[in-house]
Amino acid sequence: MTTAPAIGQPLDRVDGRSKVTGSARYSAEIPIPGMAYACVVGSRIASGRVTDIDTSAAQAEEGVLAVLTHQNLPRITEQPPLIPSLAGTAAPGQTFFPMQDDVVHYAGQHIAIVVADTWERAQHAASELRVSYAETPPVVTLEQGRDQAYIPERIFGGWLPGRIQRGDIDAGLAAADVRVEATFTYAANNHNPIEPSGTTAEWDGDELVLHDTTQGVNATQITVARLLGMPLSKIRVIGHYVGGSFGSKAMIHHHAALAALAARHVGRPVKLVLTREQMFTSVGHREEQEQHIALGATRDGRLTAIRHHKLSPTSHFDDWAEPSIGVSSELYACPNFDGLYRIFRANTMTPTFMRAPGEASGMLALEVAMDELAHELGLDPIELRLRNYAERSPSSGQPWSSSGLRECYERGAARFGWAGRDPRPGVRREGNRLIGTGMATAGYPVAPPANPQRARARLYADGTAVVQAATPDFGTGVATVMTQVAADALGMPVERCRFESGDTDLPNIAAAVGSAGAGMISAAVHSAATALRNQLIARAVADPRSPLHGANPVDVVVGEGLMTAGTASDPYADLLQRHFQPDAEASGAWTPPTGDPGYAMMTFGAQFAEVAVDAELGLVRVRRMTGAFAPGRVLNPKLARSQLMGGMLWGLGQALLEANHMHPRTGHWANASLGEYLVAVNADAPDVDVELVEVEDDVVNPLGVKGVGEIGQVGAGAAIANAVHHATGRRIRKIPITIEDLL
Ligand code: MOS
Repeated sequence: MTTAPAIGQPLDRVDGRSKVTGSARYSAEIPIPGMAYACVVGSRIASGRVTDIDTSAAQAEEGVLAVLTHQNLPRITEQPPLIPSLAGTAAPGQTFFPMQDDVVHYAGQHIAIVVADTWERAQHAASELRVSYAETPPVVTLEQGRDQAYIPERIFGGWLPGRIQRGDIDAGLAAADVRVEATFTYAANNHNPIEPSGTTAEWDGDELVLHDTTQGVNATQITVARLLGMPLSKIRVIGHYVGGSFGSKAMIHHHAALAALAARHVGRPVKLVLTREQMFTSVGHREEQEQHIALGATRDGRLTAIRHHKLSPTSHFDDWAEPSIGVSSELYACPNFDGLYRIFRANTMTPTFMRAPGEASGMLALEVAMDELAHELGLDPIELRLRNYAERSPSSGQPWSSSGLRECYERGAARFGWAGRDPRPGVRREGNRLIGTGMATAGYPVAPPANPQRARARLYADGTAVVQAATPDFGTGVATVMTQVAADALGMPVERCRFESGDTDLPNIAAAVGSAGAGMISAAVHSAATALRNQLIARAVADPRSPLHGANPVDVVVGEGLMTAGTASDPYADLLQRHFQPDAEASGAWTPPTGDPGYAMMTFGAQFAEVAVDAELGLVRVRRMTGAFAPGRVLNPKLARSQLMGGMLWGLGQALLEANHMHPRTGHWANASLGEYLVAVNADAPDVDVELVEVEDDVVNPLGVKGVGEIGQVGAGAAIANAVHHATGRRIRKIPITIEDLL
């Protein structure tokens, strides 16, 4: 019974074939008889009122079933700020709901829905709407709103405080021998997953089924139930696959409830899918921002002070800022810290989560400033970080549940070939290209969900098993790793296990956010599969016809689908077959501990990058990247690597490509298309090397999984920015760094 555990094996995706061949059905591809198509219409102005919408021409178009505006759309039941968007937790952010009155808060705000029998007819009719506005000048840019900024009590949907402070910042800065101060500006970023957001709604009497692409089917269920004033039991949400989300499908945005309202109105199933352009104004974004950093250190490189302030626009309804300062307060052993957020009301949608929301932008500022400090002190950048190594959480003083950061520095540096680096900027040249290398630390908090996570496991008499949980496979390989977790807990070959998911009729799982998916779902699946195994063992030892009859259950081991004690074995399948029982089933749950765990929980890593900068053209090419990460237990190294590589490439996009700008007078995004909003593509991708540093963690969750969804991006952009400085001697504090900055 010594087969290798399935956990830790680099298995291919169980859904790989269906995705590659196209047989995997995404939410917008589920055909429903009699389905109609809805097209949403966004406001042309960014601020003011809709004075009139003439719908007559649109209504008269062939195939049009309804035109809904603020004049005839039913009012939602529950008003802000009570709308929950993540299963079981309160209102993180988007508390506005459109088409309830005539006020326009931002360009693209949904002001009408046209429903027709085909998508083309709906779109055409939408173009026939005649909308009149009373326009007022919008506030959209940092410059326009700076003077009205305030420090919010709480940010990020109320989850986090607006200030983080410890020690005495002024004393810390005064005690410093060396100070570095820098202000970074960041362009806004928009979500561009391959699959746009969309929802198909179908009513049967007072019961509603939604096919939704979402990070949490239960999150969609709860949000729509509250908006429409319906019991949870009347809404079923199905969403098996997600074609990328990265935070854009964590909040349940307006289209989900709008689809349900439209379907009820026309008495037919309605599909509402956002266009690529509408993705820029309908699912939140990463806000434009400015971050100010001040570091103080002694001559021997000990930090005496870190100040990290941020300024950013938020919507008219929510005090939202992505938490860019949290990791800065935790990463280095520094007694004096001063962090705060300043935000101002602007004519934008409420910003939202976007991969490593806050950590990615915050670490870009802190880790570039640390590079500057190392340069000032004449210290190697890794050595400076080791001199300030946080053996415990600098804010709480608690030990880390696990760290591994020192090994990440060591193994990352070894793989990258950091040793012997000439620290002088601008000295390595290959032809007309300037070569530079840089590094940065990565940190990402581990935050368990608030509610119990549940799963179910079932064994069939043919010796196969299925484990079930409501979560969608949000594109990361959930179904694959949960199959592995179940196989080990049941003692079965992985090929005989299956994972079923993406349906609120299955046991409840919270929305997958904050890199928490693998940790929380594996905990529930492990619990369910273990309960089933124990149930079957108990049955076997009590069964007079079992070879295990009379054995002590604690002496029974499982493997290869067999229960074994000493030399006696009983296959699971035989046990069920003997009793003419088609299946056996057990449920399991993981209840995350509440209260202070006594440990601080973070995932750590170290990032390295090499760039070549064309001396005449200013063009930056990233030649190679190395990331070493300590994500706790690695359930599947192939999938973990793949996610971490993806995160590192997001870091490349952050540092060099991704940007959107608001037109200061119209309040429109300047580049709301994939043609003009640049994301990293294969041609930008360098050789990306990932090192996994496994660390044991008994605190975060039962299998010790800290997650790999976001840590790959954190620090990657900073390593690139630092490499650009090393190559060119130029410190660019505008993100992304573009050609014109280096000319
Ligand atoms: Mo992720 S940006 O926490 O949905």
